[in-house]
Amino acid sequence: MADPTIMVLVGSLRAASTNRQLAAVAAETAPAGVSLRLFDRLGELPFYNEDDDGDAVAEPVRALRSAAAEADAALVVTPEYNGSIPGVLKNAIDWLSRPFGDGALKGKPLAVIGTSMGRYGGVWGTDETRKSFGVAGPRVIEDVTLSIPGTVFEGRHPRENADVVQQVRDAVGTLVAEIG
Ligand SMILES: Cc1cc2nc3c(=O)[nH]c(=O)nc-3n(C[C@H](O)[C@H](O)[C@H](O)COP(=O)(O)O)c2cc1C
Repeated sequence: MADPTIMVLVGSLRAASTNRQLAAVAAETAPAGVSLRLFDRLGELPFYNEDDDGDAVAEPVRALRSAAAEADAALVVTPEYNGSIPGVLKNAIDWLSRPFGDGALKGKPLAVIGTSMGRYGGVWGTDETRKSFGVAGPRVIEDVTLSIPGTVFEGRHPRENADVVQQVRDAVGTLVAEIG
C-alpha cells in the first residue's frame, strides 16, 4: 500500500504526558512514507450515550470517526489508570465501536503500547486496551506488547533512550507490516 496513514490515540490528556512523548517517538521513527496522525481531541468527546449516537452525533465524535475511517491502521499509546484503561480512552473505544459491527476501525490493524510509573509499566492498562479494542472491531496485533516502566526514562524524553526508540520503531514496524 502506498503511503499508509496510522491514526494515533494517546490515553493521557496531560500536556507533559510521557505517553504523548512516546507517540512522538513513534512518529519520528516511522518507516519512510508512513504518516502517523495524532487525534488529539479525546478530551472533547462527550461520554458515550446511545441516545446521542445517530445522524446528529456531536462534532468531536464525527471527527474521531472520520480520522479512523481515513486511517489504514491505529496505534494506541496509553498509561494504566488504577489497573485498567484511562476513562477518556475507554470512552473513545465505545464511540469507535459503533455502529455495531461496522465501526470506522473495523478489521484494521491496531497496536497498543504505553508507559506507566508502576514497576510493570502498566501492563494491565495495555492488556485491557487490547481486550476492549478486540471486542470493538479493529484487528488487534497481539504480538505488540510494549509496556515500559516510566522509571527507565530517568526524567528525560523517551527519544533519549536508544533501547526505547528501537522498541517503539519495532512496534510501529510490526503494525505497518500488518497493513494489507
Ligand atoms: C488516576 C491515575 C491512576 C494511576 N494508576 C496507575 C496504575 O494503576 N498503574 C501504574 O503503573 N501507574 C498508575 N498511575 C501513574 C501513571 O503511570 C503516571 O502518572 C504516568 O506518568 C501517566 O502517564 P502520562 O505521563 O502519559 O500522563 C496513575 C496515575 C493517575 C493520574
